[in-house]
Amino acid sequence: MKIALASDHAGYEMKQAVIDFLKKEGFDFEDLGAFSAESSDYPDWAHAIAHAVESGKYSLGISLCGTGNGINIAANKHQGIRSALCWSEKIAALARQHNDANICALPARFITDDEAVKIVKAFLSSSFEEGRHQRRKLKIPIQ
Ligand code: RB5
Repeated sequence: MKIALASDHAGYEMKQAVIDFLKKEGFDFEDLGAFSAESSDYPDWAHAIAHAVESGKYSLGISLCGTGNGINIAANKHQGIRSALCWSEKIAALARQHNDANICALPARFITDDEAVKIVKAFLSSSFEEGRHQRRKLKIPIQ
């Protein structure tokens, strides 16, 4: 499983904490940017991570911006993306189990680094439950 990461300036510091965790746990990942805390526009990073996941090069993505909303909204413009705003471990696990979310969007200005790592851990260790959730997932694209 290869993981893509992306954030704007607001998520930059927390992204480093997530990277430390991924390194420690031996995950295969790539940081697509931003590469500094200099101000940048969240849609640029959202489209970068969405293209990366949608292409199949990465199985899952972790994205961050101040509220998590901007990067989440922009990524969800991509047909193959199911990006979920995750602010708790339970929400993150359910996003994988029920929604087959392929990007976990973190609200960096509203959670701690420790919470972010726990949320990422829950997201990466959960899987889609199929069954009735598969039927619902298939109805997500514009019909
Ligand atoms: C940047 O200041 C902030 O607007 C951005 O990180 C995010 O919260 C947008 O949704």
